[in-house]
Amino acid sequence: MAQRETLGRPPGPRGHWLTGNTRAYEADRIGFLRRCHREYGDVFSYDEQTVFVIDPDLTHDVLTRTGHSFVTELAPFDMRRDLDEAGAQATAWMSARRATWPGLNRAASAAADGRTVEILDAVVAGGAGRELDVLTSMRAFTARAIADYCFGADARGVPGLLHDLIRATRPFTESSYEFPAWLPLPRHRRFFRAAGDLTEALTGIVRQRRASPAGDAPEDLLGSLLAAEPAMPDEIVTSTLHSVLMGGHGVPAAALTSVVWELARRPGLVGELRDEADGPVSGTAPLPSTPSTAARLPLAEAVVRETLRLYPPAWLMTRTARTATRLGDWSVDPGDDLLLNAYLIHRDPRWWQRPDEFDPTRWLSGRPAPGPAYLPFGAGPRVCLGSALALRQLTLATSRLAQRFAVESPNASSVALEFMGRLAPAGLRARFAPLGR
Ligand code: HEM
Repeated sequence: MAQRETLGRPPGPRGHWLTGNTRAYEADRIGFLRRCHREYGDVFSYDEQTVFVIDPDLTHDVLTRTGHSFVTELAPFDMRRDLDEAGAQATAWMSARRATWPGLNRAASAAADGRTVEILDAVVAGGAGRELDVLTSMRAFTARAIADYCFGADARGVPGLLHDLIRATRPFTESSYEFPAWLPLPRHRRFFRAAGDLTEALTGIVRQRRASPAGDAPEDLLGSLLAAEPAMPDEIVTSTLHSVLMGGHGVPAAALTSVVWELARRPGLVGELRDEADGPVSGTAPLPSTPSTAARLPLAEAVVRETLRLYPPAWLMTRTARTATRLGDWSVDPGDDLLLNAYLIHRDPRWWQRPDEFDPTRWLSGRPAPGPAYLPFGAGPRVCLGSALALRQLTLATSRLAQRFAVESPNASSVALEFMGRLAPAGLRARFAPLGR
């Protein structure tokens, strides 16, 4: 106790007397954060309740203590910020999370290789060499891929509902202001309608499947959840699928958009990826045994890992302190929000050589494993549940795009990263011209 009293709140910019730092942050989010980092160090206050953290060890400390000292599930628009309710939801989610893992682990993810490639081919070939908005196309791919992973042939209609929900979520991710949910704003109505439509569709699929005779082995994630012991109630199965669909859609699409950005600017790298995909021991065709993609497609996987370093789609992770606690040399009060900045950690010259350079070779075998300064999938008990699937899907997609298409972009050299909900190059356009192989 005596020690806690010597701790204080981290320093930070005072900002405008009325609007605080919001206007400066909204004008240039990453520029503002870089300035604060330079001026105040790895931990700084943004306002009385918000602290940014750009230190790898402290970030891991917060992520590891999620569930005890910190919570992550404040419901959207919950202005009451009920920390006890958030803690109870976290406990319920952890048991659903454990039951979900067998359906998302490496072996289960590998079984989807063939469908991943088929869906990618269909979506990209559907663009038939036209110039496309890359993020929209990649979302079309990831929405179909994750819906197929969850429901197999029952997935029809789900990608469209996911698309609607992402669109309805956009106004909230673009702004730092939040209004109470009871305000009858059009954006609130759109969001609740889209979320309700998705839940209704998922409930229908779950009930129908539960009523049909079970096969020998689960063939999709829903089958695996329905086979879980002890049995999961239908509402938990539905809400778990909801989380997986949302987590497995927008974030990987943002990552793939950044991959395409790099491919469009690096014809030499595309050639090397093509050679690797055509090589004797690899190829993007599914293999009966399931070696890691790093064994089959080391360069493609290195491109994905490096892309996730330079452009982590989840560039900011949020936690709320549940109790008064210590963070390094600082004290944190209950209700304080901590914003953990993977983007700036991934670009910090203290942890990375040539941090702003895109260099996939840093991931090839023989190189040292990344330390705590690499966290595109988060860490601790709430680390990304889909990381095995994501790495696999993205590696296969990267390899396949390079192997089968010429990637040409009219604006790859002029677009910039958009630091909104999900980090991605804004407005990137590209043409995927089939190579006739
Ligand atoms: C490039 C692809 C992906 C990246 C970079 C990524 C990143 C992340 C990160 C950083 C978190 C933790 C957020 C936090 O701690 O606040 C997270 C959580 C999560 N991700 Fe992913 N993710 C990806 C793909 C996927 C996929 C494909 C799925 C579904 C199969 C998925 C499902 C989830 C779920 C369900 C959570 C919540 C876990 C929990 O709270 O217990 N993610 N993801």
